[in-house]
Amino acid sequence: MQLLEIKNLQMDFGVGANALRAVDGVSLTIGAGETVCLVGESGCGKSITAQSIARLVPAPPANYVGGEILLNGRDTLKMSPRELQQIRGGVVGYIFQEPGASLNPVFRIGAQIKESLKLHQPAKANNAEVVRLLKLVGIPAPESRMKNYPFEMSGGMQQRVMIAMALASEPKLLVADEPTTALDVTIQAQILDLLRDLKQRLGMAMLLITHNLGIVGDMADRVAVMYAGQIVELAPARELLCRPFHPYTRALMNSVPKLRAETGRLCAIPGNVPRLGNFPPGCRFAPRCPMAKPECSEKIPELIEAQSGRWVRCPFWAASKSA
Ligand SMILES: Nc1ncnc2c1ncn2[C@@H]1O[C@H](COP(=O)(O)OP(=O)(O)OP(=O)(O)O)[C@@H](O)[C@H]1O
Ligand code: SF4
Ligand SMILES: [Mg+2]
Repeated sequence: MQLLEIKNLQMDFGVGANALRAVDGVSLTIGAGETVCLVGESGCGKSITAQSIARLVPAPPANYVGGEILLNGRDTLKMSPRELQQIRGGVVGYIFQEPGASLNPVFRIGAQIKESLKLHQPAKANNAEVVRLLKLVGIPAPESRMKNYPFEMSGGMQQRVMIAMALASEPKLLVADEPTTALDVTIQAQILDLLRDLKQRLGMAMLLITHNLGIVGDMADRVAVMYAGQIVELAPARELLCRPFHPYTRALMNSVPKLRAETGRLCAIPGNVPRLGNFPPGCRFAPRCPMAKPECSEKIPELIEAQSGRWVRCPFWAASKSA
């Protein structure tokens, strides 16, 4: 059994005639201890997909209209509010881009970590465990640091506290949504090293959302590429980075600044991600795809297994491979 199995998830914002499908048929598995990266441009649906696992997207406006989200074999879409409360920060822990999303400015960080312990590991809700967690995430002088308020710490240190809070419940799955985007490059590297190290030591699985394909190369076992609410490519990380099949993945990779690029020019993907409710007919990438053909706009391509373990939503992937 997979730790997480999302099957054909469909989530709308709004209901009836005003409903806009924001997550459209997403299927994704994560095995115990596995790291899966979710990539795609802004607005593609990465955060709402990840937050759906513990039903963190406020409903309304969110409306789950189809699919299953099996976490340890149990469907979170069918859980009661009480059960959801238990899995949030229990089986699944979240860290977000902004520590402000998880840290309360008016409480000392030690008290906040203790609160998280009380909820999920009551026997360990003591100062010694808080100190152990702060040490685990590399915070120096944890005995005195635990008395700090969030504003007394740097962004990088706040991010570490947020990770410590997420780890307090010993989650089986850590969802990290752009956990380093707000930090400078050196601190980014430190936080990523920390996550990798913790993952190895604690055997957690991780769903890591990132804009940065460099991070994917460093961290991921597998990668899911999202575009306009759908997964368009899913593959082992190394294979995808060496040889992307979907034209959108290729375009994303071409838009990464390459240090040794001869031209030194940054190539952004022309055009924009279509807005919710404004998706083009057929393949949603067609208006931006250099390989688009008239038939691409006729029907939405299926996600097909192009090679063992490699899924792609483009019938012309083989041509794209050699393009
Ligand atoms: N509460 C909400 N109500 C209505 N629409 C929403 C809500 N939250 C997100 N959306 C829309 O859903 C789509 C997907 O949003 P999401 O935040 O998942 O994108 P993302 O891929 O995480 O982007 P980014 O990289 O900018 O974080 C966007 O069009 C967004 O405007
Ligand atoms: S289906 Fe057509 S438009 Fe879509 S990615 Fe493939 S070639 Fe491009
Ligand atoms: Mg997001």
